[in-house]
Amino acid sequence: MGLEFAKQQDQNDKLSAFRSKFHIPKDKNGNEVIYMTGNSLGLQPKITKDYINQELEDWANLGVDGHTNAKNPWLNYHEYLTETMAHIVGAKPIEVVVMNSLTVNLHLMMVSFYKPTPKRYKILIEADAFPSDKYAVESQLRHHGYDYKEGVILWKSGPSEELANYEDLETILEEHGEDIALVMIGGVNYYTGQFFDLKRITQLSHSYGCTVGFDCAHGAGNVQLNLHDSGADFAVWCSYKYLNSGPGSLAGAFVHERHAYKKELNRFTGWWSHNKDKRFKMRDEFDQLPGAEGWQLSNPTILSMAAIRASLDVFKEAGFDQLCEKSKQLTGYFEFLINKLNNSDIKIITPSNPDERGCQLSIQVKNADRSLHHKLSDAGIISDWREPDVIRCAPTPLYNSYRDIYELVERLKTILN
Ligand SMILES: Cc1ncc(COP(=O)(O)O)c(C=O)c1O
Repeated sequence: MGLEFAKQQDQNDKLSAFRSKFHIPKDKNGNEVIYMTGNSLGLQPKITKDYINQELEDWANLGVDGHTNAKNPWLNYHEYLTETMAHIVGAKPIEVVVMNSLTVNLHLMMVSFYKPTPKRYKILIEADAFPSDKYAVESQLRHHGYDYKEGVILWKSGPSEELANYEDLETILEEHGEDIALVMIGGVNYYTGQFFDLKRITQLSHSYGCTVGFDCAHGAGNVQLNLHDSGADFAVWCSYKYLNSGPGSLAGAFVHERHAYKKELNRFTGWWSHNKDKRFKMRDEFDQLPGAEGWQLSNPTILSMAAIRASLDVFKEAGFDQLCEKSKQLTGYFEFLINKLNNSDIKIITPSNPDERGCQLSIQVKNADRSLHHKLSDAGIISDWREPDVIRCAPTPLYNSYRDIYELVERLKTILN
């Protein structure tokens, strides 16, 4: 399982050529770094520049006519993204749209799916939810006139456990289910890397009459989310992590098909939520567009969407099922090498069951501080530090190799010794 094994695995890997389709950052000596932060900002596909340049050229040459006459007419540019994005998150095209950024989409979804009443107004989130989700949820409570501290129920793990477990969720819902309006969970927890059973959470929560939404920032492009089958009411995700679409790029939103034609659902609207066949008649009464597209407000953001399109084309070429398969192998190898270090100061807090995680391993290092992260950076490893003592590493199947994993663990071993 040493260097020769890693090299052999790379040779046998049918997806290994995809690494050369990405720009891999280099250290100050000109060597490629070991990039383990695809869970934070994915690397740039080499074709992205061409996709963006196409739109810049059409803008330069056509001006406003690009809306209809560009090589890829801009008016409905978001539609070019829908099919592949829907495939990646396991949804039907009518359930998916790319628009805005994640937290904005989360608010738009809560406008429609958080319908508090004096009896049922609480929101359940996981204890270690991503801060932006927590703040968004609290502000929705305040917006509706509720005490934001009283209104949030936390799905906590036991005192010495890092991972949330379903028995605790069942107990919370048994006790408070009738008070909870919305269950809003991170599909893959950003800190532990735990991939939740979305269907189980949805079915359980629905049985208590709660609506259910997922933040899939750490799931999209990383794991098979199967959003449609999960039955969730909504989900949101960003495209700059595993979906490699560039810093701050646009986000996705999913609204389950059963809500697609509910014109009565309360929502915020703009001209892009209006019937697209009559959009430019300008003086017509508002006519709600069906499906997830009906949550759009504004016309598409072309340059960012061009980057998403480039990335999705890479995913399409590689095949998402194959990527997920490789991801399991790669992370399994990583876990094996970490465990083989046999270092009692190190503990992987991510679930060991491959079906309960994506590619990320969150490694807790006893008594470590941020200096460990700096040492890793000096050794050419780009990883991610989360207070108080966790290194997050996410080997992604599109551009990380078995050799990367081997080198990473060797260098970590040297640093820890
Ligand atoms: C799990 C999760 N949720 C929400 C966000 C916030 O995303 P945005 O700034 O795009 O709204 C992030 C950002 O990293 C995240 O990781």
